Amino acid sequence: MIGLCPFHGEKTPSFNVSPGRNIFKCFGCGKGGDAVTFLKEHENMSFEDAIRWIASKYRLQLEEIELSAEDVKDRLLQDSLYLVNDFAADHFRKQMMETDYGKSVALYYCKQRGFLDESIEKFSIGWAADAGDALTKAAASAGYNVDLLKKLKLSTDTGRDFFRSRLMFPIQNLTGKFVGFAGRTLSNDKSVPKYVNSPESELYIKSKVLYGAFQAKKAIQQLDECIVVEGYSDVISLHQSGIENAVAPCGTALVEDHARIIKRLTRTGNIVFLFDGDAAGIAAATKNLKNVLSQDLNVKIVILPDAEDPDSYVRKHGAEAMRKYIAVHAQDFIFFKIAQQQKEIDRDPVSKVKLLRELIGLIALIPDQIRRSVYIRECSSRLDVSEQSLVSELNKLIYQDLSKKKQAADKSGSRAGQQSGDTGEEYFDESDFLTKPKKSVHETGKTFGSQLQEKDIVRILITAGERIYDESNSISIADYILGNIAEVIDDFDDKFYESVVKEYLQRQNTGEVTNFQYFIQHPDEKVRRLTVDLTTSPDEYSPNWEKRWQLPLQFQKMPEENFTLDTEQALKRFLLRRVGQICQKNHERIRELSSGDNMDELVIAMKAHQKYVELRNSIAKELGVVVLK
Ligand code: CTP
Ligand code: MN
Repeated sequence: MIGLCPFHGEKTPSFNVSPGRNIFKCFGCGKGGDAVTFLKEHENMSFEDAIRWIASKYRLQLEEIELSAEDVKDRLLQDSLYLVNDFAADHFRKQMMETDYGKSVALYYCKQRGFLDESIEKFSIGWAADAGDALTKAAASAGYNVDLLKKLKLSTDTGRDFFRSRLMFPIQNLTGKFVGFAGRTLSNDKSVPKYVNSPESELYIKSKVLYGAFQAKKAIQQLDECIVVEGYSDVISLHQSGIENAVAPCGTALVEDHARIIKRLTRTGNIVFLFDGDAAGIAAATKNLKNVLSQDLNVKIVILPDAEDPDSYVRKHGAEAMRKYIAVHAQDFIFFKIAQQQKEIDRDPVSKVKLLRELIGLIALIPDQIRRSVYIRECSSRLDVSEQSLVSELNKLIYQDLSKKKQAADKSGSRAGQQSGDTGEEYFDESDFLTKPKKSVHETGKTFGSQLQEKDIVRILITAGERIYDESNSISIADYILGNIAEVIDDFDDKFYESVVKEYLQRQNTGEVTNFQYFIQHPDEKVRRLTVDLTTSPDEYSPNWEKRWQLPLQFQKMPEENFTLDTEQALKRFLLRRVGQICQKNHERIRELSSGDNMDELVIAMKAHQKYVELRNSIAKELGVVVLK
């Protein structure tokens, strides 16, 4: 079955469902999986919730593995905490919709500031009465344990209501469950804080909740963009106007956990900060920046005209104008920072240096190299400094950061430092990535050959050639490799790899230093590229991989303790491939000979064949590889 994809906006259907195979796949955006995956991705459910949902929809009996007493207690406690929050949200709603005071003050206020009934319902807005213990009492008489209310900080230790005389905005998690509350005072008294938030509780962790995300998630997925605003009312007004991909952190900065949620909801990580034009708004945008950059999100910043917030703007001018304003004023963070400080830069050159430092500090947070390069270039052209000096400054920062991480990892005894491959060898010319599109190192046009194994040999030579293979005989990795492949060194399938190996050998013979540094600065651009290519991998290995499968990691940058093993294995793979090729050639020769009448030759060939096969099988066995033919 084919239909429009629910994950991304499209006009021609590319979303396929195969009931026979029980899978879905969108050939537009690439999402795919089984029914459980669908629910997880589309409804943002956890695995467990998805299974439960399916079971209840199809009236299937769920067999649950028996939980420990402790687990059961935790689960029950969590469930009952959610129930208490449900009760509270409903209580606040009734206070607003069903009491005279609520209707004439709170509901009236909502209407006045333009919240429509549908928004009040969609965001479950309510009213906390001034009685002092209205909620606590109501909950107790409905049979709820007051201790639970205290746990959620809905009641104070002395059994009074935490929220009094406030317009209530319940805060929902991604699945729509109530986790906390924000209460706005309706008084103009400046000494009263405008908003009061639930303190954190077992259910409510501020860094992991985005206000409006439950209501916004579909739109965010479809538009592949998330608008981040500062306030609750901003979210509500934007949604009400039809801009439904807006969320807000709850009275805090947008931290990395928030950024991760947004990253998961969007396909390509587009995020727009839509902030007030006042000093606070600009400060907030700046503060949040580093958290989204480090999560590799595409951030655009939109600053509203002074004295407007998204709420007031969209109410005054409507959704179309808002969208247009965003489209016209969205700027990347480099431009944003420069624009903020333009006046100072013009006045004082020292401030330009300070700004550059700050910008490079931000760029260094971006994990993606290509994206870093783009920003470096922009920085260079906008502020009129050479790309090269920016790159070297950036490399310094990255290097410092890596060694800090490594130190921390060493201290904690974890392998994290190695996993991220931080040997300090990440130096490279960022602008290389920019000027030419990144493509495979070279094309030989050959599809069948030993290139992979040959490349692996080159990899070992370049990244570990200098290191010691055998201490007692002072044999280096390069000695070991070159010694073992001496006979076939003129016979590589790939002439480029062959030339690198030969160069290595020649320098070795003349006693010149040949190390990673030499290759990364190699006069031949092709070799430089190869070197970068060999030391960067788009994939990262799970730290558990080795333990679990007892397999060494081949393409990771060399972990200290297994580079000899890595070398031996690379060499074996290379030899295996070689012997395999010889076997095949010999096999062909046997076929030829058996139709002729040179018996002696045939016998020799057959004997040789037996030897080759034995050799091949023994290498394969050492490698744990199965030979197919
Ligand atoms: N905020 C807060 N505590 C305060 C003031 C503000 O937590 N004392 C947070 C709230 O999340 C608020 C956001 O900062 O929504 C933005 O504050 P502000 O612009 O003052 O409020 P608005 O959202 O514009 O509120 P309203 O439109 O209801 O006046
Ligand atoms: Mn406002």
